[in-house]
Amino acid sequence: MQTNDSGKDEVLLRVNDLRKYFVVGRDFFGRPEKYLKAVDGVSFEIKKGKTLGIVGESGCGKSTMGRSILRLYDEVKGEIIFKGQDINKLSNSEFDKIRPNIQMIFQDPYASLSPRLTVGEIIGESARQHGLVDKAGFHDYVLHIMEMCGLQPHYFERYPHEFSGGQRQRICIARALALKPELVVCDEPVSALDVSIQAQVINMLIDLRQSLGLTYIFISHDLSVVKHISDDVGVMYLGNLVEYGSKEDIFTETLHPYTKALFSAVPVPNPHVKMNRIMLKGDIPSPVNPPKGCKFHTRCEHCMKICEEIAPEYREVRPGHFCACHLYNSPEDTERLEAAEAEAQRLAEEKRKADAEKPLNKFKTAVIDKPAEKVKTAVGNAVTKLKDKAKKDGKPSASDKDNDEKK
Ligand SMILES: Nc1ncnc2c1ncn2[C@@H]1O[C@H](COP(=O)(O)OP(=O)(O)OP(=O)(O)O)[C@@H](O)[C@H]1O
Ligand code: SF4
Ligand SMILES: [Mg+2]
Repeated sequence: MQTNDSGKDEVLLRVNDLRKYFVVGRDFFGRPEKYLKAVDGVSFEIKKGKTLGIVGESGCGKSTMGRSILRLYDEVKGEIIFKGQDINKLSNSEFDKIRPNIQMIFQDPYASLSPRLTVGEIIGESARQHGLVDKAGFHDYVLHIMEMCGLQPHYFERYPHEFSGGQRQRICIARALALKPELVVCDEPVSALDVSIQAQVINMLIDLRQSLGLTYIFISHDLSVVKHISDDVGVMYLGNLVEYGSKEDIFTETLHPYTKALFSAVPVPNPHVKMNRIMLKGDIPSPVNPPKGCKFHTRCEHCMKICEEIAPEYREVRPGHFCACHLYNSPEDTERLEAAEAEAQRLAEEKRKADAEKPLNKFKTAVIDKPAEKVKTAVGNAVTKLKDKAKKDGKPSASDKDNDEKK
């Protein structure tokens, strides 16, 4: 493996309108009816050799986004352009050839290590399968990777359960690097480790990025870690990027109210600096039923009328600094968005009417809904008649008895 300083400004990955919806409910006919919009239209790009940090509250779609880029799910929508090629359009066999180039490191190192394989086999197996190393060179190849990742040569014959969390994560990193990837998606790679070990692993990742010319997507809850390792930062909320830009812009020229609230919660290591913590109202809403308009409006201290109805555009507010918030609209933007919303509502109403006319819906209404409604009404009428009769006869009905007992 060689240092790669060439093509520094080359865009390695460009993601356009990435969407991953999980089906969480089906209708009577088994058709998907309810979706959980885990990733709902995310766009960004990463230059070669850079690190994009992704932050956001738990459940906002960070891992789903990372896994979607690695094509670990079916039915991912949008473009994933890796080295100029849309890998989301490739067949599985075509993508298999590219797969070694994009690797992932997970939060829980133990869960992803086979307990029956030795460390050497774990690290080198996939590289051998992909023809990156032959039988004769296998041992030396793996030892070289282990050395880069701070693993002693005699660990080669040992098993994962013999190692600490930090060492296991080094094994996972070595396994990913054995495939000579260009892009590594690191999903909370140090969250499960002790703070002192976290720093060692993060510094090792920074060194490896430098020496191997790697590009990282680094997902983390920990803003100080993201600040340390990232060149650019993306902030996610309920499946969307709400702010994206260089680390300097995001941390010092913060635009989005959500990002401001997230950053205000980070403790400042200076007793003389007063923390102005912005308290977010309520919990993160459900991605199955996200709020209309700006998804953050239920918790935003700057919420305006337009925020409740119309989703803000994600656009370049300053050079290289993107944000989705109505606070940065010009009057023309607001006018254009309101006109577009009115048109979208008109079209939605037309579609709703057209759908209601569809033969299948007519069938369902005629054969299932209406008879079911009739049975409900008939049962209701019969119960009322029985109650009336019981009253006339002077006998208390079952519900009257219940009420008497409660009294
Ligand atoms: N396979 C799945 N089926 C249905 N819903 C899923 C699935 N995987 C994830 N989700 C849902 O998608 C949303 C985003 O999940 P995801 O794991 O991507 O969030 P996250 O930002 O990585 O959270 P955390 O910080 O806790 O790891 C969550 O509401 C989650 O429950
Ligand atoms: S669009 Fe409105 S509700 Fe959403 S973040 Fe901006 S000000 Fe707050
Ligand atoms: Mg996650």
